[in-house]
Amino acid sequence: MKPLLAPSILSANFARLEDDVKAAEKGGADYFHLDIMDGHFVPNISYGPMIAETMKRITDVPLDAHLMITNPREYIPMFLDAGVELLYPQIEATYDIYRTVQMIKDHGGKAGITLNPGTPISNVIPLLDLLDRIMLMSVCPGFGGQKFIPSSLDRITELRQMLDEKKPEVSIAVDGGVDLSNIGTLRKAGADFFIVGSAVFNADDIQQRVRDLKKAMK
Ligand code: DX5
Ligand code: ZN
Repeated sequence: MKPLLAPSILSANFARLEDDVKAAEKGGADYFHLDIMDGHFVPNISYGPMIAETMKRITDVPLDAHLMITNPREYIPMFLDAGVELLYPQIEATYDIYRTVQMIKDHGGKAGITLNPGTPISNVIPLLDLLDRIMLMSVCPGFGGQKFIPSSLDRITELRQMLDEKKPEVSIAVDGGVDLSNIGTLRKAGADFFIVGSAVFNADDIQQRVRDLKKAMK
């Protein structure tokens, strides 16, 4: 699977969002990642569907949205109507997660799911028929700029082996603490979709940092 890079705008400078996004786009960003936090599922509040509409006015690069929210079904149509291509609810968020993922498909979206570091990989098996991408958190969600949790590497390997047996076309995303020092190793372990926040937007030269990350992930 071709590796793709998705800068998370959580770490962008919102006073000059368009400049930051354009710089990342020029560097070759394949997607932009929107981190949606509700102050319940995670101890932080970020932004809602309006940011997707704003991003659609700034860029034609596709968007995905990471739903760190306790009631994802209430917001799935809003994000898809705003033009987001793929949604990742958290598998821990609802007891009827199959229904939640099904709702994304029914509304014409691509379906992802997110697993927190403590969630067993095998929990995704019942959802596999619906899924296009599985995102493994490599930090506890809620904030940008946290340190990569080392055990995440073995989780990528375990998930890739399981998918190769059951549904090889499903993509593996990794989110949290990804930077130039580890992206190559994560690629070798079997991840193919890299979400990078602070390592992109805290760089002095955002465009060049995206280029360097893309080179390192190949
Ligand atoms: C964390 C978010 C991540 C975050 C990544 O809750 O899901 O997408 O923005 O940021 P970095 O790359 O700084 O860990
Ligand atoms: Zn995220």
